[in-house]
Amino acid sequence: MAIGSFLAELVSFRDAAAAALGGIADEAALEQARIEFLGARSGRLKSIQKLLAGLAPADRPAGGRHFNEAKAAVTALFSGVQERLAAGAAAPVAAGIDVTLPGEAVRFGHIHPITQTIRRVQEIMARLGFESVDGPEVEDQWHNFEALAIPAEHPARDPLDNFYLAVARGADPLLLRSQTSTVQIRVMESRRPPLRIVSLGRVYRPDTADATHYPMFHQVEGLLIEPGTTMAHLKSVLRQLAASFLGGDVHVRFRPSFFPFTEPSVEFDMEWGGRWIEMGGAGMVDPAVLSAVGYDPERVSGFAFGLGVERIAARRYGVADIRDFYRNDVRFLRQF
Ligand code: PHE
Repeated sequence: MAIGSFLAELVSFRDAAAAALGGIADEAALEQARIEFLGARSGRLKSIQKLLAGLAPADRPAGGRHFNEAKAAVTALFSGVQERLAAGAAAPVAAGIDVTLPGEAVRFGHIHPITQTIRRVQEIMARLGFESVDGPEVEDQWHNFEALAIPAEHPARDPLDNFYLAVARGADPLLLRSQTSTVQIRVMESRRPPLRIVSLGRVYRPDTADATHYPMFHQVEGLLIEPGTTMAHLKSVLRQLAASFLGGDVHVRFRPSFFPFTEPSVEFDMEWGGRWIEMGGAGMVDPAVLSAVGYDPERVSGFAFGLGVERIAARRYGVADIRDFYRNDVRFLRQF
């Protein structure tokens, strides 16, 4: 082969490589091109190398020199493209930002209306000196019934009215607490009077869900144990709570009622928007309960009350169906 044709081969090799590399946009295409031009087995450079042997012996040193130059030049082109791709991969976003586009709005979450209500009640009660405490949702029968003077044969213990836990079937099966009055017992068992506590949490009853019932709901439990406590103190505390929560001068009314763990017992209503609204139950802590927790009923007395969180939240926010609180529909929840 004449040296001239050999050099022409090298020139077209360099031109072709330069043309191919100019349009390369990713690593895979670059590798493809590397194999085509510089591949050790059947790359185009390899076939040109074979032509070297066909040069006249006198032309071989010059041919070899040009060959090495072309190889170095094309290899350098490849490195250049490789660097360009690496740099591009690191900063494509910065390069691609269009500052004239409208920004993406940050969406803020917010507190669920039931949680807002719980916090508000805790805050109001804290100002009246009531400490917020928690109790377990899985309870034993002592705290949910026995210590609250609800004996074994009492209808409130009916399996149809409670979520007993099958895993603990036995002499004293556990249950999901049906009322937060359990916390009264837990606190009195572990502390000495005087006491002012409030406990807000979930309770469970197998009710069919409708506009005013749900198998899980929340209660506010209040307990005050102090010398000289009367029903008048109970009424003022409830009136304070109602007035602070609903706003304005809210009236509270007692109606005679019965709870095994209070004596006397009342249901209390609040007057709001010209109507009396049932809020919950209350009364003076029954001496049997005080004895059950080891207090001396001759020396201490106090009151307790319980009311539904959903009920007061529904009043305050004007919600007609408490199931809306649990549907997790943001269009509903966003309003509060
Ligand atoms: N635990 C009662 C209920 O769930 C309410 C209540 C609490 C009544 C405290 C009196 C005292 O119905």
